[in-house]
Amino acid sequence: MALSPELRRALASRLAYYRELGIYDFYRRPITSSLSAGSAAADLSNPNEVAIQPEQREEMSPRKSAAVQADRGSVFEVLTPRSESGVSDPIRALKLIREDLGDCTRCRLAKQGRKQIVFGVGDPKAELMFIGEAPGADEDQQGEPFVGRAGQLLTNMIKAMGLEREQVYIANIIKCRPPNNRTPERDECETCSPFLMRQIAAIKPKVIVALGAVAARTLLAINDSMSNLRGRWYEFAPTGVRSEDPSWNSAKLAVTYHPAFLLRDPRQKKEAWKDLQMVMKELGLKPPAKAVE
Ligand code: URA
Repeated sequence: MALSPELRRALASRLAYYRELGIYDFYRRPITSSLSAGSAAADLSNPNEVAIQPEQREEMSPRKSAAVQADRGSVFEVLTPRSESGVSDPIRALKLIREDLGDCTRCRLAKQGRKQIVFGVGDPKAELMFIGEAPGADEDQQGEPFVGRAGQLLTNMIKAMGLEREQVYIANIIKCRPPNNRTPERDECETCSPFLMRQIAAIKPKVIVALGAVAARTLLAINDSMSNLRGRWYEFAPTGVRSEDPSWNSAKLAVTYHPAFLLRDPRQKKEAWKDLQMVMKELGLKPPAKAVE
């Protein structure tokens, strides 16, 4: 494969970084393919439409993207040593990952006003995972992802799919609140996302829903608009980790709008509902008979 000078430079600096960490072994994996799927229109009305989190942008300019330009689909994967190696029980594995994270000071966010680390919440054996961007003020306060206004909407979206919040797993690309809820920086995503990758490998979800542009671009390493990223399936294998379960090596990933964006532009709820219906079809879920409030 011919590499562009830009990619070569990026790879060289990435490899130097891993060498500094004492990681020397790499393996190559085949490029993953994407699948397409259909969708249907519906209304995702929500009475909890409260004020907006102004910091949440949906369509990001490429310049501002904090997406990790990861190795996915390009050249190398790196396997990092993990304390949960050999642990197949997801509950135990998540505990070990959390312990490993500790009172993390690996990036500047530890010193920029974060109250606590927001690890993730939900069923460690969930078939469905939602991944957002970063904790906001409420999440930082409570130590749980998506508990603020956007979180209320996410909870309603989950209910509209015929599930309870406790039946899914919810996490973010980064685990600490950025000051003034700014978009996470690329190096913050790079430092933090390996822990998310390990969580994903421990949980082994069938389906991951990336909420918003930062989550989608970071997970997929594709710097594209939300309208291009939505409406199809991607095959997602967590970078740098292998599951303990040989029968699981990837999840199907769908992209939808961030709930904070939907609060700002409720007309897009119809589109988000199409994305969720695509997910429901994949998981064999039926919406509850009674309308969700
Ligand atoms: N927005 C996010 O992306 N994550 C949260 O946990 C809350 C708001």
